[in-house]
Amino acid sequence: MNDPAAQALQQLAAAAVAVQANAYAPASHFAVGAAVLADDGRMFAGCNVENASYGLTICAERAAVCAAVAAGAKSLRAVAIATQLAKPARPCGACRQVLAEFGKDMVVVLVGSGGVQERTTLAALLPEPFTFADLARSRGAGGKPPGS
Ligand code: THU
Repeated sequence: MNDPAAQALQQLAAAAVAVQANAYAPASHFAVGAAVLADDGRMFAGCNVENASYGLTICAERAAVCAAVAAGAKSLRAVAIATQLAKPARPCGACRQVLAEFGKDMVVVLVGSGGVQERTTLAALLPEPFTFADLARSRGAGGKPPGS
């Protein structure tokens, strides 16, 4: 699949930086903004949302994916992730897995402080995601959940 146009990726990066300002991070003070690009050209943004019950925190990437899916966009081509680090942060493992559900060929744009950018792919960050195909293989082999 062709990579998204450079202009679209720049817009995506700008959207991630913009939404980072809305991060709700009273516990960590680590603001994250994310934006995903759907195959129809639409972009959806999300920020991290923390909670006094720490484990309920939602990462920016997953918030953006949920916004996309809620709007009917289930095929994603790129994600931009903005943090305040000089070397931009990588998405956490949980977010890599959730992103892979909707676009294993995704381009990943990492944005750090001062607008510094790095570019990678989800395939590089998560080479072998667990997928529904694995569940289908299990059924095909007569697999049953433990205890059943
Ligand atoms: N965070 C994200 O939003 N995305 C990631 O990929 C890693 C971590 C957030 C969660 C929490 O609000 C803060 O960063 C510190 O972990």
